[in-house]
Amino acid sequence: MLNQKDISAQYLSSHDRLTEPLDELWQNISPLYCIRESIWLKQLLRLSQPTEVEAQQAITLTTQFIERVRADKKAVHMIDALLLEYSLDTREGVLLMCLAEALMRVPDKATADALIRDKLSVADWQSHLKSSDSLFVNASTWGLMLTGKVINYDQRENTSPTKALNSLVTKFSEPVIRQAMHQAMKIMGHQFVLGRDINEALKNAETPRSQGFSYSFDMLGEAALTSTDAQKYYDDYFNAISELAKFKSKKATGPEPSISIKLSALHPRYEAANEERVLTELFETVLALLQHAREQNVAITIDAEEADRLEISLKLFAKLYQDDSIKGWGKFGLVVQAYSKRALPVITWLAALAKQQGNCIPMRLVKGAYWDTELKLAQQHGHEDYPVYTRKEATDVSYLACARLLLSDHIRGCIFPQFASHNAQTIAAIASMASHQDFEFQRLHGMGDALYHHAKKILNSDVRIYAPVGSHKDLLPYLVRRLLENGANSSFVHRLVDARCPVDELTEHPVDTLRSRSSLPNPRIMSPPKIFGKQRKNSKGLACDIESEWLPFKQQVDCFLKDHVWHAHSIIGGAQQPGQSHPVIAPYDHKITVG
Ligand code: FAD
Ligand code: 2OP
Repeated sequence: MLNQKDISAQYLSSHDRLTEPLDELWQNISPLYCIRESIWLKQLLRLSQPTEVEAQQAITLTTQFIERVRADKKAVHMIDALLLEYSLDTREGVLLMCLAEALMRVPDKATADALIRDKLSVADWQSHLKSSDSLFVNASTWGLMLTGKVINYDQRENTSPTKALNSLVTKFSEPVIRQAMHQAMKIMGHQFVLGRDINEALKNAETPRSQGFSYSFDMLGEAALTSTDAQKYYDDYFNAISELAKFKSKKATGPEPSISIKLSALHPRYEAANEERVLTELFETVLALLQHAREQNVAITIDAEEADRLEISLKLFAKLYQDDSIKGWGKFGLVVQAYSKRALPVITWLAALAKQQGNCIPMRLVKGAYWDTELKLAQQHGHEDYPVYTRKEATDVSYLACARLLLSDHIRGCIFPQFASHNAQTIAAIASMASHQDFEFQRLHGMGDALYHHAKKILNSDVRIYAPVGSHKDLLPYLVRRLLENGANSSFVHRLVDARCPVDELTEHPVDTLRSRSSLPNPRIMSPPKIFGKQRKNSKGLACDIESEWLPFKQQVDCFLKDHVWHAHSIIGGAQQPGQSHPVIAPYDHKITVG
């Protein structure tokens, strides 16, 4: 278990750690599931603390990136401007987001219209019509909403924007807005999706590939609810691997492209409670894809999803990685999320897995895209604490601590780090820590274009673009994550395009930001037991997907089951009453007679 000693030595300097039995290293992961931030972040701060040289270099580089991007007229997409104006800290931003997200799921038109009426009547849209910038944004917004096209708001017509807006709202009825909202989602989808199918995506990727960028194609689809869904996503991945192998780029100059897969797309019961099925049925499915990918020489990365799936995903990964048909390949990798409190021991365990097999694991380090979901789930389930950090800068600190570990000498060769971020400070801090170039950077299609356009030249690093491929109907969950990410006022991309945000603030090292706070956890985010304030304590739930929480509970249950055969009687006046008895069977396993 965790002690209060400095963990830097434990994580950074010991080659021996990677030869420790995997089972022992595994034991370090689960107990950190919802460790108190006030304890664990103190340790991570030591690991991510930059030297003076690193700190200076990071500031210089970050400033250079920001200045170049801000001077680049093509850098700000219309959607950036839109999300900036309708930031998620404005009521209108939240309403637009809710409306867009909800409308896609409302099946009948009458309810959709009622929703539009409800949402549009309460917002103060006019307050956004202040500056010339917002004029464009408002015209765009309403254009998007009402016609699916950007309205070229013509200032020469001398109509006030407020008037124009009012006339649009009153002129069109809800059905038109409904159609337009769907259209707007399609346009936004276009920003984040590279092609409707893999062949279109491969064609669209040619120009960036000629500039040295590489790709990881993600076939849109996740959370399969039925075996039919899972089979469809399997076919999509299988076909994408074949097409990718067949396609011979005429222009590519960078590393070979790869495919990213989501396990939740491949099995309708991908959850810890179904470990046996995951490690047999899902194992077989993914193994078949991997064998195909190995034959075609196409690298595969498993995306990281919700925190409750981390442990089961690692067990599955290890089983696949150790399969004879995959051993020695070196092109099967996975994603680690730095917002998870368990990230650091996960990296050590994976490095040991690779080392003990004499192989390398390509590992994409991300901050994590499910933050809002994780908070809500922990509150809903009444967990002791959150599995993720509660301050943005804490996640940044964790990211840099993980990066330092990944760049350390004893991990080199076991893990090939792939740093995925659109944050100029994060990229600069990594470049300042790296003593070698055995890594690559990654970005998402539709994000960070300008930043990496400049960073790639300055750093001379490889850059891979994660590019979703698929149809509009599979886009929603992915799109919502991107909108949340881009619309959050704390996110780097949001602050970068906001000219009001001074460069000094953007270059601040997260270690300094976090240390300057009055507390390491965010006091504005109550721990799950305290979300109802003084009213009442939240009801407690068990994190059944987490070994360190589940096993002690299971042991207690087991010893009750083993040592007791339960007999129930009516008791009247303190005396047991005779009656007929019949066996009571455990509802979850009919072979067990409880009493
Ligand atoms: P920043 O603005 O620096 O960081 C934003 C991030 O900070 C948020 O996403 C969140 O993780 C964190 N954060 C925000 N607010 C808080 C808070 N209050 N407390 C704690 N943390 C907070 N994500 C996945 O989950 N799984 C994947 O498989 C995956 N694959 C990706 C592949 C690529 C190539 C890329 C570029 C991204 C991928 N992502 C994945 C998404 C990734 O997690 C987000 O893009 C990333 O978190 C944004 O980080 P940033 O450094 O670009 O931006
Ligand atoms: C997501 O699907 C990019 O994997 C990441 O949000």
